[in-house]
Amino acid sequence: GASCGEAPIQYEALMQMDYLDCVLNESLRLYPIAPRLERVAKKTVEINGIIIPKDCVVLVPTWTLHRDPEIWSDPEEFKPERFSKENKESIDPYTYMPFGAGPRNCIGMRFALIMIKLAMVEILQSFTFSVCNETEVR
Ligand code: HEM
Repeated sequence: GASCGEAPIQYEALMQMDYLDCVLNESLRLYPIAPRLERVAKKTVEINGIIIPKDCVVLVPTWTLHRDPEIWSDPEEFKPERFSKENKESIDPYTYMPFGAGPRNCIGMRFALIMIKLAMVEILQSFTFSVCNETEVR
């Protein structure tokens, strides 16, 4: 922080930290805080031949979608580059939903993202990280 002599962190600078954004997105892919979403059918509908009755609870398996090998190459690997400017346009928004989707998605998304980035920059300005013998490097 400022007491250590680093420059104070500006909002604009945080928003330009593209790789930090990739790392955060990839962390939320592998470890979505909400591992599934839920919705209740307001009326009976038929989708792809499946009838979903009114009042039926539908679970959306975020965790499973985020690790589906048909959607992600090497799904278990931590690869922030998936979310680079060049690559992220090919990601279907209904296969990556750490903050949910639609009109009832997370209202705190932008606030959460900026606060996590701010915390990470503060921590990295104050500490040096290294691996230990037990760290699994893949
Ligand atoms: C990394 C941090 C966070 C994650 C991953 C997260 C994720 C989610 C998810 C998955 C949902 C359900 C969305 C859906 O069903 O489509 C949700 C809803 C919600 N989140 Fe977050 N959230 C985060 C932080 C926050 C923060 C910081 C706030 C408030 C300041 C917040 C407030 C809410 C509220 C109020 C809802 C309910 C919205 C509604 O039902 O209309 N969240 N969040």
